[in-house]
Amino acid sequence: MRKTIIAGNWKMHKTVAEARELAQGLVNGVKAELGSAALPDIVLCPTFVCLPEVLTTVKGSSLAVGAQNMDYRDSGAFTGEIAPGMLTSIGVSHVIIGHSERRQYFGETNESVNAKTRAALKHGLIPIVCVGETLAEREENRTDDVIKQQIKAGLAEISVEDAAKLVIAYEPVWAIGTGKNCEVNEANRVCKMIRATINEIYGQAGGTVADGIPVLYGGSVKPSTIDEQMEQSDIDGALVGGAALKVEEFLPIIKGGAKRHQLSASRA
Ligand code: 13P
Repeated sequence: MRKTIIAGNWKMHKTVAEARELAQGLVNGVKAELGSAALPDIVLCPTFVCLPEVLTTVKGSSLAVGAQNMDYRDSGAFTGEIAPGMLTSIGVSHVIIGHSERRQYFGETNESVNAKTRAALKHGLIPIVCVGETLAEREENRTDDVIKQQIKAGLAEISVEDAAKLVIAYEPVWAIGTGKNCEVNEANRVCKMIRATINEIYGQAGGTVADGIPVLYGGSVKPSTIDEQMEQSDIDGALVGGAALKVEEFLPIIKGGAKRHQLSASRA
């Protein structure tokens, strides 16, 4: 059985006080509305400065906290960077790696994504590795090639045991922050293709390691889209941007994830 994961990427939003309020609202909302129901993994990813406050706020709840980025080195003269061990030292469990905004605006490449993914695994962080094509790449019918390359280069030299700990997020760049969803059947097809690519890398073409790896969809996920997305065979959760910034929008998305989680638990 694969985990269902609902992750909120808060990007460069929220002061510390606002982050506390949002995290508290979600803790309260999950408790009040989902009570003792079996929950998907819920991960909040605020900015670095808000991590300690959000960690304190969610303590004792089932919510986890992730960072949005990190350096791949352990320490050193790298002004402005944050090391993996610094994240684990405060209780961060997840880290988003290779978000398209990092690739687009901060020069991240498949190679840096690989270095960071390996470093995260070495430090016991769960990497949420992001892949996705641009609009131009989609229009040129290069979607599958681009994503296969991102997966192959991103996972280079990662053992099969470590690969089993990964989370992948398929985020078509053109669907991020645009209000345009990737059509669900297409999103599901790409998530399935990602899984097949990973199995191929590990010489398990028939499928094994990737059958346990959650593949999330991201790109304008909203309360109105989540149910259909969570009904797909290969979309195991969501990485949510804008709609993760308000309790009244993120809570229904968590509920959508909970439905999938409960359904797959009952089938297992
Ligand atoms: P939106 O949900 O705002 O489109 O952002 C998606 C995203 O980039 C999550 O990482």
